[in-house]
Amino acid sequence: MFLKQLIVVVMTCTTSVASTLPEGSSDRDQVVAKMASRLEEVMGELAALKSRLDLVQCSPHVGFTLTLDVNLTVAPEEIIKFDYIMYNEGQGYDPETGYFTAPVGGMYLFFVQAETPPGAGFGLSLMKEDAEWAYISGNNEDSRLTLFDEVVLNLQQGQRVWILKRDNSNPVIRHRSNFGGFLIAPDRQCVIPNNLS
Ligand SMILES: *[C@@H]1O[C@H](CO)[C@@H](O)[C@H](O)[C@H]1NC(C)=O
Repeated sequence: MFLKQLIVVVMTCTTSVASTLPEGSSDRDQVVAKMASRLEEVMGELAALKSRLDLVQCSPHVGFTLTLDVNLTVAPEEIIKFDYIMYNEGQGYDPETGYFTAPVGGMYLFFVQAETPPGAGFGLSLMKEDAEWAYISGNNEDSRLTLFDEVVLNLQQGQRVWILKRDNSNPVIRHRSNFGGFLIAPDRQCVIPNNLS
């Protein structure tokens, strides 16, 4: 809209400047030629800008849901690598490392649900860049135990979140335990991909 108005202004100027000069004068021809070439430049800039605008991503979608397909035995202080990816929009989760890395900065909601077979204590932490932001633990000798927590975190682009096994005594996290999260609100509504600067 703004660019259309700009072109109208440039064209109006060209016409009005030209009309103040006597017809057929070389001054007038020069002004018209100058304006025409400037207009051509503006049109070129406009086309370049338009092609870049198409690549701007607004309201980036980031979210993931993971589950365990196996009963996993994990050592204390080990990252729990959820092996089954149900959803990974934005490709933030890496199953090789177990890390979720924020593709864009913003406010995120994370949740974790863990089930363990009957046994001694079990605990795990939700970590963000080496700091613990949530800790869930329990102790149940007779039946299986389900633990759940969720937390809202602000992440900068590139910061990581993961689930760490804590309590040693019950080493098994059962299949169908899960971990997920999603972007509630990005820091910037529109993101220009890095390769466009
Ligand atoms: C996990 O262990 C439970 C018993 O605690 C068993 O019923 C279940 O089939 C196991 N699941 C897998 C995928 O091995």
